[in-house]
Amino acid sequence: MSDSIELRKAKRLKGEIIPPPDKSISHRAVFLSSLAKGKSIVRNFLRAEDTMSTMNAMKMLGVDIEQQSSRAAEQQSKGKDTTALLHYCSTDLVIHSNGIHGLQEPEDVIDCGNSGTTIRLLSGVLSGNPFLSVLTGDSSLRSRPMGRVITPLRQMGADIMARDNDRYPPIAVRGRKLKAIKYDMPVASAQVKSALLLAGLYADGETEISEPIKSRDHTERMLSSYGARIDIEGLKIKIKGGQELKAKDMDVPGDFSSAAFFIVAALLIPDSDITIKGVGINPTRTGLLDVLKSMGAEIELTNIRDVSLNSSLFADEPVADIHCKGGKGLKAINITKEQIPALIDEFPILCIAATQADGVTTIRGAEELRVKESDRIKAMATEMRKMGVEAEELSDGISIKGNANLKGASINSCGDHRIAMAFSVAALIAKGTTTIKGTSAVNISFPKFFEILKGLTK
Ligand code: S3P
Repeated sequence: MSDSIELRKAKRLKGEIIPPPDKSISHRAVFLSSLAKGKSIVRNFLRAEDTMSTMNAMKMLGVDIEQQSSRAAEQQSKGKDTTALLHYCSTDLVIHSNGIHGLQEPEDVIDCGNSGTTIRLLSGVLSGNPFLSVLTGDSSLRSRPMGRVITPLRQMGADIMARDNDRYPPIAVRGRKLKAIKYDMPVASAQVKSALLLAGLYADGETEISEPIKSRDHTERMLSSYGARIDIEGLKIKIKGGQELKAKDMDVPGDFSSAAFFIVAALLIPDSDITIKGVGINPTRTGLLDVLKSMGAEIELTNIRDVSLNSSLFADEPVADIHCKGGKGLKAINITKEQIPALIDEFPILCIAATQADGVTTIRGAEELRVKESDRIKAMATEMRKMGVEAEELSDGISIKGNANLKGASINSCGDHRIAMAFSVAALIAKGTTTIKGTSAVNISFPKFFEILKGLTK
């Protein structure tokens, strides 16, 4: 199959779509169901490469996981063409677990693929399980920093090490009894926070974690919904060790980070009018909506409801339909460090929006973007320049001159799903033909992305 696509200017986007299931929540649903004794059903699980890495890892650890075709997806497939395609990235999982101490030693190295969430959360879980595990991944994952989980897990007593002085995968961990710690996280990272919360379940005493800025809180909400007691005071989270999780059924909402590409595309293409249905709007994820609205975008949220997690302590995951219309001019904006965690994965598509805004947009305090699936600051600056954008790479962000007349170019996705999708949107407003190379990366989070985009393009 070809690993590139050619795209041209679109007149408008029109129609209704359902985005793929949320990637972060799908990962966590498998983690928690695999540790909760009994049978859990995860409805609308994301069937994409990243979340399959988590599912396969849990199978290697002895968890019984069965895929069933999703009823929701089948119903969708009777509808319009674009929604039918989502059948390919949504499934239901039936998970039988022997409980938090029920995992078994894997017979082989666990391959986490491209997934930072898999390797980091797994490091936390395996630190408390009394056997040897080795975790690795693809070349991108093997160049991503692991010291951020290894340092605090070692403080908890974990026997864990990694390549190049504990910096990069592979990671080797021999689990044992852990002790609770108080830990001030130096970087705002939901993956690190989640790894420590999961390790905290295996620790003697109460683990206390403080974040510098609030990051996505799906793990906290879900731990509570699986029956764990967890206390949150501002940026401080406490969890007691020795707790059992209770099996349960849950629904995964649509992924805001996948919806984001269509939101921006509709805003930038005049006469567009689209509705994206059932999108998760957890406020720790939707920073892009606030930013786009302050740039002047016309976005309306309707049918706001909760996808029930049956949590005793916290709110469920909120969901809405998002309606966007194109053609209204945007104005440039300055984005600072405090805003970054809530829009961390939307940086690539926000850069594309900034190319069309009136004025110079600057994004700062975002150095974390250098250690994502690619160096996203460098990738965006380099590839946008090929399309004629004046973009300056900063050590911790970027500055982008707006009102740019984009011209078609040959774009390298850098093997990064979000870079590939962001430039596909840029291609729809560029003069001439844009070739995106390395398109198979979209399978990490959004199989059928190009087919759905094509279905909306008029
Ligand atoms: C994620 C957390 C974020 C995000 C990633 C998914 C998660 O990473 O960028 O795509 O599911 O917890 P960090 O925790 O490294 O910021």
